[in-house]
Formats: sequence, C-alpha cells, structure tokens
Amino acid sequence: MRLGLISDIHANLEALEAILADLDAAGVDRLVCLGDVVGYNTDAEACIALVRERQPVWVAGNHDRGVTGQLPESDFNSTAARALAWTRARLTAPALEALRTLPLKATAGSDLVAVHGALHPEVGCELVRLNNHERRRLSFAALQAHPSGARVCAHGHTHQIGVFEMRGGALLDRTADEVTLRDDAHYIISPGTVGEPRYAEQRATAMVFDTEKRTLVVRRAAYDRSRTWIKTRRAGLVPRYWFLPAGLRRAIRKTARAARIHSTLKRLGV
Ligand SMILES: [Fe+2]
Repeated sequence: MRLGLISDIHANLEALEAILADLDAAGVDRLVCLGDVVGYNTDAEACIALVRERQPVWVAGNHDRGVTGQLPESDFNSTAARALAWTRARLTAPALEALRTLPLKATAGSDLVAVHGALHPEVGCELVRLNNHERRRLSFAALQAHPSGARVCAHGHTHQIGVFEMRGGALLDRTADEVTLRDDAHYIISPGTVGEPRYAEQRATAMVFDTEKRTLVVRRAAYDRSRTWIKTRRAGLVPRYWFLPAGLRRAIRKTARAARIHSTLKRLGV
C-alpha cells in the first residue's frame, strides 16, 4: 500500500490541485490528510470537496476546529482568526459538518497513526507543535503504547518536513528526501505543508509512505502562487502591513498595547 500524506492545505486550491496531481502520478493508493484544510486563504469549500472525494484517512487540525467553533477564537492569532470568521460565513452546512465530525486521531490499519499536532496529549493534541525532542519523546511513548501496533506516527501543524526515528531509547533526526525505515524502530514523520509555506521551500510538499517497501519519499509540486495570493489579498485576509517582518509586526503590536492604541492598530491590520 502506498499512502500519500498531506497536511496544512489552508484553503490553497492551486497548491492542493498541484500536489494531488503529483501524488496521482506517483501512484498513491490512499490519501492521508493530517488536518488544517481551511484557514488563511479563500478556497476552503473547494479544498474540503477535493479532499473529501478521495475518502482519505483524515484528522482535524486546529484551524478546522476553529472554523466549526470547537476551538475558541482566542487560540488563534489575529490573521488566522480573521480568516476563520471569513471562512465560517461562507462554508456550506455539509462542509462544516464534514469538518465537525473529523476525529483528532485516526489509523491506517496497523501501518500508521495520523494526528494533526501530536499523539501524546489526551486533550488538545491538535494544538501541540512537535518541534522539539522533548515533545517528540512524549509522542514516541504514546506511539509505542498505541493499540494499533503502528510504528509510524504522521503529523502536521509544524509546516516543516521531518523524519524522526526512535530506536533503543535513542532519538535520531533522519530527515531526507528518501528514507528506508528500519523494522526495529518507531518513527514520527511530517510531510510539511501543501498550501502555507513558512520556510525556504515554497512549493507544495507531501510524502509517500510505501508500507511494503518501508520507504518514505518526499514529493514537491510547484504551482502559481500569485493566483492564490491575489484571491487572498482581495478578500482582505492578508495583514495590510504583511511586507513588514512578522517579528517587527509583533513588536509594533506589543508597543501599541503598552501605549493602549492596540485596537486602532488592529483596525488598520498591523
Ligand atoms: Fe497549519
């Protein structure tokens, strides 16, 4: 079985179409969607429909639960919260219901456990970012105890490609474009992001897990980012001062809070 892993589409239809075409060409048998189909961009309804028709192994991300009201607005930054409110007002009832009924954890047989954030917490796992070894160790412990017997846990939320191996208590970063899995180890893997790049890689990314050959292969697909950008910009979902680095925008907001002019800046979209 060849599983195609995707995550963090964030309503970017151009990116989703590109990566699905790439996965089809790669010969994937089943899609695994690790959550955050919605958020930030404008094509949530179309992205939900495209994912849904593939009948994937599918878990909810924090943005999916934000748009349905299962997570409060206070769990999101102002740009994300604005996009969620915009999306909620436009999604059809069946699309919202599809998101509302998604599980937080799912399995692909005994091959793989799927989560959005992390495997270890009983509550709020979709909000935990697996971006350090301390948290990875907690999720590895949960994977080793998982009733499915799966040795691989796939997650999203970090928007970064990763392959981490646990063997005999040692935790190794084995991130590479092609990795052969050992039979005597456990793995925590992330396919990066389809539609919301945050690092140098700007293409849509995914991963193919061949459960028989025990291989992981990273896939990348280029797409026309300007089309997505124009739609997002026209909908007013990009901060007006997006060209300032995020750190600088944060510093401005912090100063504004101290000077009690934060609400004015928020209206201006900083
Ligand atoms: Fe995300």
